[in-house]
Amino acid sequence: MKKLLFQLDTDPHPAVFDTVVAYDGGADHVIGHGGCTPGNVRGLVEGAIFTRAPKEKKFTALFIGGSDMAAGAALFKAVQKVFFADFRVSVMLDSNGSNTTAAAAVARLAGSGPLAGQRAVVLAGTGPVGQRAAVMLTREGAKVAITSRDGSRAESCCRELKERFGVEIEPIGAASNADRARAIAGANVVFATGSAGVVLLDEAHWVENAGLRMIADANATPPLGIAGTDMMDRGKDRHGKIVWGAIGFGTLKLALHRACIAKLFESNNLVLDAEEIFALAKSMA
Ligand SMILES: NC(=O)c1ccc[n+]([C@@H]2O[C@H](COP(=O)([O-])OP(=O)(O)OC[C@H]3O[C@@H](n4cnc5c(N)ncnc54)[C@H](OP(=O)(O)O)[C@@H]3O)[C@@H](O)[C@H]2O)c1
Repeated sequence: MKKLLFQLDTDPHPAVFDTVVAYDGGADHVIGHGGCTPGNVRGLVEGAIFTRAPKEKKFTALFIGGSDMAAGAALFKAVQKVFFADFRVSVMLDSNGSNTTAAAAVARLAGSGPLAGQRAVVLAGTGPVGQRAAVMLTREGAKVAITSRDGSRAESCCRELKERFGVEIEPIGAASNADRARAIAGANVVFATGSAGVVLLDEAHWVENAGLRMIADANATPPLGIAGTDMMDRGKDRHGKIVWGAIGFGTLKLALHRACIAKLFESNNLVLDAEEIFALAKSMA
């Protein structure tokens, strides 16, 4: 029985990155569909749940991706609404690598020092990776804030995270690098999750910050999100801070993403979202 992974992407083209990792995670065939929405996904899901005998349904699985976290979350919900009784297959949500990237980075930070009671600031935290990282840091007991260039965007993002996860996250409007330096003044942990190639902090903005203990940066496209760090940093000491660069924790991200794909084919009722993926990341880290 072939392991079939249907990649349902909210963008026009299914992400090539996710296709490659799906094969590396053990799928025999990956079938990508772009432009998926809650309104057009029913037929695709029905094709997945009605075709194989109960014992063989676990060899069919669904992966939800795309660059828009809200669209991905809505599609993830819509897919599960089609399931009933044992007419279901395993499904994973990872829009823009949100859950796997955030989980790997936060697991690495958690392994580098305690997070409970610490002040953590997720810079440019309104994107898929930043949102999920903020939730995971909160779950580890940190007091978390996210910044956005637009304060109202940070506020609506925090509202949505509260609705979905029941977490309290502080929104901060910070338009410039200097504003973000002020936002991390009392922080113990900083995680930069800005768009590729966008510098969020200059080196001078963090080296003298005495309370700051740990830094992570998800951006692997130079220039990096936090100047004065290196994408290869693997818990490296820089100016007395422990630094994790995007490739430094990216090895765990890839291993985690592959492990999630492999798990999808173990049963026909697995639902992999932030909570489950973060738990797996911690066990792997
Ligand atoms: N290391 C890995 O394994 C891995 C895996 C996947 C992704 N990534 C990287 O992780 C990062 C986050 O991914 P994502 O998909 O969540 O990012 P994203 O949605 O592209 O961007 C995140 C946030 O960056 C802010 N931003 C955009 N342009 C900006 C600018 N010019 N100046 C300041 N802020 C700006 C935006 O926030 P506001 O508009 O609210 O300010 C946006 O919501 C990216 O760099 C991505 O390449 C790494």
